[in-house]
Amino acid sequence: MENKFLTGKTALITGAASGFGREMAIQFAKKGADLLLNDINMEGLEETEQLILKEASPKIILHKADISDSDQTKLMAKKAFKEFDNIFVIINNAGISGTLSTSLKTKEEVYDRVMKVNVKGAWNVTKAFFRNMKRQKQFSPVVGKIINIASIAGTANGINPYLGIYSASKAALIALTKLWALELGAANITVNAISPGLFVTPIYKDSPELIHKLREMRGVRLPIDRLGETREVAGVALFLASPAADYITGENIIIDGGMSISINKL
Ligand SMILES: NC(=O)c1ccc[n+]([C@@H]2O[C@H](COP(=O)([O-])OP(=O)(O)OC[C@H]3O[C@@H](n4cnc5c(N)ncnc54)[C@H](O)[C@@H]3O)[C@@H](O)[C@H]2O)c1
Repeated sequence: MENKFLTGKTALITGAASGFGREMAIQFAKKGADLLLNDINMEGLEETEQLILKEASPKIILHKADISDSDQTKLMAKKAFKEFDNIFVIINNAGISGTLSTSLKTKEEVYDRVMKVNVKGAWNVTKAFFRNMKRQKQFSPVVGKIINIASIAGTANGINPYLGIYSASKAALIALTKLWALELGAANITVNAISPGLFVTPIYKDSPELIHKLREMRGVRLPIDRLGETREVAGVALFLASPAADYITGENIIIDGGMSISINKL
């Protein structure tokens, strides 16, 4: 994927102030994409912009909005189509972890917030953008691509009792991925999910120790026994955004060093 296959295409990345969102923004810019970067953390977005400008010179719009609020996402969509003539890729990446507790021990306010950001947030964004995306007939054979950042915690093998509500929210996001693939396929929009394992990002306090603890809690040894890197998740997102993935939709690509297949097996 050496060529700048995203030239002339804009990517909206939610949660772009840190972690995967930041890394995807940098890698997408290097492939020629213009960027609409969203987060609730404006300072972090500005840092992301500075890092991008060291590597590339795309058009970048930073937009502070809470994706769990439908009015704010509608405003973001309005601004997006004023500033750009397309939003070719949407990466529903913003997410929160909630508390380390089983689903039934989770406090109601934590349940509400995790579901509102991780599930309703992605739904709000997709709902606010899909109609305009459908009209992007300048692109062929695919007029737009939606990539949801789910988690192995939302998959059958990786479902995680220590992150109960988070697990349920990511399972819902994987279900929405498949529903949207069905609903938007006829309009030539592809919808896929990426499910990372455990990566060192701010969501896990940037702490390799916490990751090791979480692995130990589940008794996991990885077939690929090292920590994954955010650029490896960005690489899968780039693949899904590339023409090589034009015939892939409704899929959930797991990137976890083999973690979810090895729980209780190695
Ligand atoms: N790090 C991992 O190991 C891991 C594994 C699987 C899935 N994920 C998922 O990857 C995604 C990115 O997480 P990350 O690990 O990069 O952590 P992160 O905390 O660095 O990134 C999440 C970003 O989302 C933003 N955000 C939170 N609530 C928001 C809201 N309501 N509106 C807009 N932005 C909001 C945060 O400010 C933050 O910048 C999340 O959806 C997370 O669940 C992470």
